[in-house]
Formats: sequence, C-alpha cells, structure tokens
Amino acid sequence: MIYPTILCGGSGTRLWPLSRKSYPKQFVPLLGEETLFQASVKRLTGPGFAAPLVLTNSDFRFIVTEQMTEIGVDPGAILIEPEGRNTAPAVLAAALHLQARDPDAVVLVAPSDHAIPDSEAFRAAVQRGLAAVERGQIVTFGIPPTRAETGYGYLELAAAPDDSGAPVDLRRFVEKPDRARAEEMLAAGTYLWNAGIFLFRAADMVAAFEAHAPDVLAPVRAALADAYPDLGFLRLTEAAWAEAPDISLDYAVMEHLSTLAAVPFAGEWSDLGGWDAVWQAGPPDDAGTVLSGAATAIDCQGSLLRSESEGVELVGIGLEGVIAVAMNDAVLVADMSRAQDVKQAVTALKARA
Ligand code: GDD
Ligand code: MG
Repeated sequence: MIYPTILCGGSGTRLWPLSRKSYPKQFVPLLGEETLFQASVKRLTGPGFAAPLVLTNSDFRFIVTEQMTEIGVDPGAILIEPEGRNTAPAVLAAALHLQARDPDAVVLVAPSDHAIPDSEAFRAAVQRGLAAVERGQIVTFGIPPTRAETGYGYLELAAAPDDSGAPVDLRRFVEKPDRARAEEMLAAGTYLWNAGIFLFRAADMVAAFEAHAPDVLAPVRAALADAYPDLGFLRLTEAAWAEAPDISLDYAVMEHLSTLAAVPFAGEWSDLGGWDAVWQAGPPDDAGTVLSGAATAIDCQGSLLRSESEGVELVGIGLEGVIAVAMNDAVLVADMSRAQDVKQAVTALKARA
C-alpha cells in the first residue's frame, strides 16, 4: 500500500495577484475547473493508494478540508505544522507518523501545486518506482531538462534509461546549481530535473535523517510524540517544532544519499513556478496567446490574458509576450521575460503596507 502525502505549505508569491498569502496558488483553479490541490489529491487516489495524508498549516486547514470534501475525498488525516519549517521537517514528520501506523509503509511525497495532466501515466511511473523502493532506495522522478534552470534539483543518472521506464540508479543529486553548473549538466545529457516527488519506505527515510540530518530528527520526533488532536486535525507541538532547522529535504538528505534511484517521467510536468509556466501550460490560440475568464485578445501574440473577476473585462490589443492578470483588487501587467520578478511585487507591496 502506498501512502500519498501531500505538501501544502507553500505561498507561491510568483503567481501574484492570483496567489495570495492567505489563499496561495495550490487552492485556486489555475488550470481548468479544479484547484491544483484537488487535482493533486485525485492524481494520488485509486487502486494501491491509501487515503492521502496532508501536511499544512493552521491558516490553510479549513481550505484543505473544504476542497477535499468538494471532490468527494474524506479529509481523514491532516497534520498541522505550527509554522513552515520547509520540506525536510514536514517529510520527516509524515514518515514518522506513517511508520508508527504501518512499519512497512511506502510513502509518496508530492507537492500540491504542480501540473501533471496525464494522471494515468504518472501513477504508472509510481508503480515502476516500487521495484527500487523494495531494494531500499529512495526514488525520485526525473524530467528531461529543456533549459539550464537554476531553481530545480538535478539527478545524475548512473546509466542510460531503457525504454521500459524502470528506475535508474543515481550517481548524484545536485540541488539548485548555479548557472554555469546548470549549463554543464544540460549539455552533458546524463541529468534529469528532479520533479520534487519522492517515493520511499518510511523506515528508509527515517534512517536517512538519522545518518545525515540528526538535528532535524530530534525536534520532529518530539513534536510528533506530543502532537494532539484539534478539531479533527493532528497538531504538531509548537515548542519542539520551532527547534527544527528550516531546511529542504533536498539539502538535508537528498544531496548526501548514495542509494537514490530515479524513474524517468516523459509525460508533461510543470511546477507552475511563474506566469510564464502558466502561459506554457496553455491552451494557446493560433497566435500563442492564452486567455482565461473575461479576456479578449485582438492581434496579440505569445501573451497571457486572465481576468479573474467577473466584473472586469480585460482586453489586449497588439501585445507581444505580455502577462496581464486582472483581479477585483489588483492588476498585474508584466513582460513575459520578467515572470520570475513578480515576487518583487509582493515584497514592494508589503513594504508599502
Ligand atoms: N507542508 C509544507 N510545509 N509544505 C511545504 C513547506 C512547508 O514548510 N515548504 C514548502 N512546501 C511545499 C511547497 O508548497 C511545494 O509544493 C513543495 O513543498 C516544494 O517546495 P518548494 O519551496 O516549492 O521547493 P522548490 O520548488 O524550491 O524545489 C523543489 O522542487 C523542485 C521542483 O519543483 C526541490 O525538490 C527541487 O529539487 C525540485 O527540482
Ligand atoms: Mg516549487
């Protein structure tokens, strides 16, 4: 049985003004009718999967239950982090929690804010990963890289993947390289991007923390030992949790492990890390423009026009490579090449507030 664990703690500032601190991108219908979180839950539902475990914080807990109920999934197990301490403590808490319930638990950790349109293909990739999990490996999912992205982890394959899509041993895991290193790895052709999805036996992940991040282990164990039920949620204790270092799983353990494997995933994948990625996810019109809501394009090319407000008509004329997002209370207009700078808008507005 695979225990899906969904990480739901991020704030997604690069998708402002749609993604807000109190209502981040995973909870909005960014692509299609469902929210990204709902799509993530559905992707991990079906034969072979236990009910999902969700890790989130106090602010989002009722959004999580409401959105699960809306798609007919029982919001059974929700762990509340007193504050965001990044993914290492969160993943470890999930591993310890599930191991206590089932000593042989196999855990699939997935983010709540990625787009993977072909759920069937993704679940098949997860099934293929089980072969490596049985050998005691921690399994990542690898995406063929298309650019020298510095915001991702890179997986160095020890051998060329075969057509079966079977897991391949990793030589190395490199988290967020600098530009020069990213260009080298792209050119080498032996690296895949880390999709940020992990499959492992809970016991193996706990052992990895014992070996490489014991400073995370002690506080997380304590926070879980004293965790208490609160309105149906399981709340980790604040004092112990505050002692956990703020570090990602990638830096805390993945970069140090020599027993990793990757399942190559050829299907479409996007972490929707900015409006340019949302534009790429489409669907585009004949001139490569993507429209959503009450938006109209006249002679526009390669642009994204979204009106998120029923009362606001958004019209673009003669635009090329422009992002325009209209909400009730905010409008973003940006050059497509500056999509990553949208987080600066949030910083600037905070400073003004
Ligand atoms: N519950 C919880 N608590 N979730 C969290 C927390 C936390 O404290 N911090 C982050 N998350 C969630 C985010 O919402 C996101 O869904 C996921 O965990 C990954 O965190 P990010 O902060 O988005 O990581 P990243 O994008 O910088 O890097 C990771 O993902 C890349 C692919 O998108 C790494 O795993 C990279 O190696 C990878 O390439
Ligand atoms: Mg991310």
